[in-house]
Amino acid sequence: MIETAYPAVDDVRVALGARSYTVRVGQGLLARAGAEIAPFLNRKRVAVITEDTVAGLHLESLRAGLAGDGIAMEALILPPGESTKAWPHLQRSVEWLVAQKVERGDVVVALGGGVIGDLAGFAAAILRRGVRFIQIPSSLLAQVDSSVGGKTGINSEQGKNLIGAFHQPSLVLADIDLLDTLRGRDFLAGYGEVAKYGLLGDARYFEWLEANGPAMAAGDKRLRQAAVSHAVRMKADIVERDETEQGERALLNLGHTFGHALEAATGYSDRLLHGEGVAIGCQLAFDLSFRLGLCGQEAPARVAAHLARMGMKRTLAEIPGDLPGRDALIGLMAQDKKVVDGAMRFILARDIGDAFVTADVPHAALADLLDQALATR
Ligand code: GLY
Repeated sequence: MIETAYPAVDDVRVALGARSYTVRVGQGLLARAGAEIAPFLNRKRVAVITEDTVAGLHLESLRAGLAGDGIAMEALILPPGESTKAWPHLQRSVEWLVAQKVERGDVVVALGGGVIGDLAGFAAAILRRGVRFIQIPSSLLAQVDSSVGGKTGINSEQGKNLIGAFHQPSLVLADIDLLDTLRGRDFLAGYGEVAKYGLLGDARYFEWLEANGPAMAAGDKRLRQAAVSHAVRMKADIVERDETEQGERALLNLGHTFGHALEAATGYSDRLLHGEGVAIGCQLAFDLSFRLGLCGQEAPARVAAHLARMGMKRTLAEIPGDLPGRDALIGLMAQDKKVVDGAMRFILARDIGDAFVTADVPHAALADLLDQALATR
């Protein structure tokens, strides 16, 4: 059953022994950031890493929220976009934190979407061999996925997220109000990650999304809070069982092998947002599962119908501009972090809500799938 308690804050505990923390999901969290963050501070100052667009929308609210509890803040404002998740901005961030005299006992705050959370978290992981950090995710994608679970890092020229560390945050403040300021396209891109949770492990959640997704996208905050809390609970359960992705956690990468390859093929640009790549990737994963006889045709058809109803991209035809051919796409997929002994591993599904990891995908089936998907362009 999906909880819709409202407007109370939902607390989701990520139980990882000494690295445990709480994800708070609710409204008004930014306005009371000082009270939320104060218990974590040795001294009343924080260093905030954010990006230009988010800073324009939310940085002064954060400053005011912290000042209410006498907490001072300095902020580094980086450029927005996936290309920020790269060596030059990591170097700039770490040098800035050193220049701010951030000490071992201090706290770094990441205010932004997945790019900022991953970059700032990695900077915190390597600064003085590790300082604590707090995530304030501003995008739907970051609230349901990237701010939780401690994956931090940057992209390599050779692939996405290839450089990084596991470094769990000390607290996550997922303020539902921040989602009001997202462009429709960014909200829907984040929704790709929301749908992913239902598809990988919870058919009832997917059914709930089929019924409530459109109202959620239209702005219903009660539904948004319920959807984020449920996804975070699912993620917390998986991360608790497999923090460093030795097995089950790979399920969270449903749609990502295809998605990351498409992102690389489009130069990590505005042509394809990460969550859009994930949604298209989920569709391809279900199409491939059907081709391999793993699931019935109803499963990919339901994925397609839901993505279409939400107004989301679901085919390669909807990616603007040129794409490389099938073999180049397979080459990009082979850079995936899930590759073991050179063999690609896929997240496939027996049904909606029943995904599993396998290396057993004949090259011909993958090639046929991509040939057909590319032919629609
Ligand atoms: N975004 C996938 C994971 O955190 O494992």
